[in-house]
Order: sequence, then structure tokens, then C-alpha cells
Amino acid sequence: MSKKNIILGIESSCDDTSAAVISDGYILSNIVAGQKVHEKYGGVVPELASRAHQQNIIPVVDTALKEAGIQKEDLSAIAFTQGPGLLGSLLVGSSFSKSFALGMNIPLIAVNHMQGHIMAHFIKQKGEENKQPIFPFLCLTVSGGHTQIVLVKSAEDMTVIGETLDDAAGEAFDKSAKILGLPYPGGPLIDKYGEKGDKLKFIFGRHKVGELNFSYSGIKTSILRVIEKGVAENPNFITENQNDLCASIQHTIVDILIKKIMKASKEFGVNEVAIAGGVSANSYLRERLLELESNYNKQVFIPKFEYCTDNAAMIAISGYYKFLKGDFSDQSVTPKSRFAL
Ligand code: KG4
Ligand code: ZN
Repeated sequence: MSKKNIILGIESSCDDTSAAVISDGYILSNIVAGQKVHEKYGGVVPELASRAHQQNIIPVVDTALKEAGIQKEDLSAIAFTQGPGLLGSLLVGSSFSKSFALGMNIPLIAVNHMQGHIMAHFIKQKGEENKQPIFPFLCLTVSGGHTQIVLVKSAEDMTVIGETLDDAAGEAFDKSAKILGLPYPGGPLIDKYGEKGDKLKFIFGRHKVGELNFSYSGIKTSILRVIEKGVAENPNFITENQNDLCASIQHTIVDILIKKIMKASKEFGVNEVAIAGGVSANSYLRERLLELESNYNKQVFIPKFEYCTDNAAMIAISGYYKFLKGDFSDQSVTPKSRFAL
């Protein structure tokens, strides 16, 4: 039997420390340690994030190897997130990975975090059907830091064909939640409360931008105006309307995403549509995408929840594809806070 290609993936670009093991494309383990420390600050505090990564990285890697049932000597390579992300956070994952590769004498593979989100669609699960998109496909990549439409021609060849000119969709969720007095990160809470609300109760202004680009900064102001007016008339306005406000905010953010992905599909003649990034965990976005499948004949690919938000499995699978090509880095590689696809 030929030797298996077993890749350890490391992700530390923001506030999740994660390690995962992938063997010939099949997931063996994916451990994610979140950081509660940021909640009370209403956003990620970079210095606290890198300190928490330092505390978490060894136990997280240890658990990932144990859960995968392998020894570190079984690993073929180590892949890590090179960027984009918070520099201090990236430094912890990259320094660990470089030392590990050196100590174990195995190849080191640098991965672009956004490419990782897209490649999450290729993670295979033992005993499952593992439906995967076929190149070329479109990927709507929506996270706390990015909102992009990417034309994915192969595992290495990806072109951004549209992106946000200001805030990311996740940022729009989190900032709106903050206005409603919800804790960080507010995206999942807007999703939860929005499920019970009326999405057409409040209408928020949309900033129209051309081509396949997005603009989300205007939505905050529009929400703020509605809230100020409501609270002036009724001091309990927010609590009494929480579900409807969340549903309407969610509808506004998601509707823009759907319209642009439809436009991209038409312009590029590509009917396979995937989503990636933290916001793809949003249940209303998932529902709207599935409507594209039933009503517009698109093939839609939605990753499992655990591969939507930041995780190392997506880094390990990207590493696996690079491993097959022999695309390795040497010890001079450094993290990049900004890193285009
Ligand atoms: O990809 P990710 O985990 O980290 C970044 O690379 O940014 O994305 C995090 C973003 C946050 O803005 C968070 O509020 C948003 O994803 N998010 C959601 C949901 N789950 C996570 N937004 C809306 N609904 C959700 N269910
Ligand atoms: Zn991410």
C-alpha cells in the first residue's frame, strides 16, 4: 500500500486557534479553540489575541494529533495560514509551523487564508457522498474581513471579480448588532433573532455600487437613523422590535449578496455557485442560496457549518493540494497581514 499524504494544518489569523489533520483529502480531526476574552471589548483586541494563541497552540495541536490517532512522525507536511490577518496572531501560527517543519524535517506549506475558505469545499468526510464543485465555479467569500466574488479556475488559479469597497458583510452584521446592543460577534445573534422576525418590517437604505462590487458602510447609518427615530418615540423600541430589526438587517445584507452573485453567474456564464467564510454560516443566506438551485437552475455548494468560520481543516486541505504540486516554502517565509488571492 502506498504511503498516505498526511497534512497538519494550522490557522491563527484572527481570534481562533485551530489545528487539523487531513489524510489524502479526508478529515481526521479539526480542533478550534475560540477566545472569549474579546467579548467584553466589542471586537478582537490584537494583543490579547496573539497572547491567547500562544497559550492555545500546543494543546490544540496535541489534541488534533490525538483525535486523528496519529503520531507527529506520521505527518508528511505542515501547512499554515500566511495571511491575510492580524500580524501578531499570524506570527504565532507561522513561528510554530516553521519550527515544527524544521524539527520534524518535513515540508512547510504557506496558505492564503481566503484561498483556504474556498478550498474548504474539497474537504472529504469518510462514509459521505462528498459533493464537490467542478472548476470553474464562482465562490462568494464572505467573512468578517472580506466580501468577494471569486472566479475559481483551479486550486491555484483564483481571480477576484468583485469585492467590497468599504465594510465586509460580516462587519456589517457585527456593527449592526453592536448598534442593537448585542455582544461581539453579533452576526450569529442577528441570525438567531432574525429567524423569528419579519424581514420586511424595516427598510434600510442601500448604497448602490456598480459592476460586481459591494458597499456596506451606508447600512450602519441607515440602521442608526431608524433606531434613533424609534427610540425617540418609544424607549423600549429596540427590545420590543429586536426580532424584526434583526430579520430586516439580515435581509438587507443578504439580498445584496444574492443579487450580485446572480449577476456574476450571468456575466461569466458559470452556473456552479459556492459560498465560503464565516458569514456562510448564516441560515437566511443558506436559504436564499438554495432558492437559486430550485428556482434558477444553479448548482449550489454550501460547506458544513464547522468549515464556514475560521478553522484549520481548510488550511490543511489547501496544504494537501499544494503538497501534491510540491509547492513548498522555506524558512525565510514571513506572515503577511495583507495578502491578495
Ligand atoms: O471567516 P470568519 O470566521 O473570520 C474572518 O476571517 O473574518 O468570519 C467571521 C464573521 C463575523 O463577522 C461573524 O459575525 C460572521 O462571520 N458570522 C455570521 C454568522 N456566523 C458567523 N454572520 C451572520 N450569521 C451567522 N450565522
Ligand atoms: Zn476567515
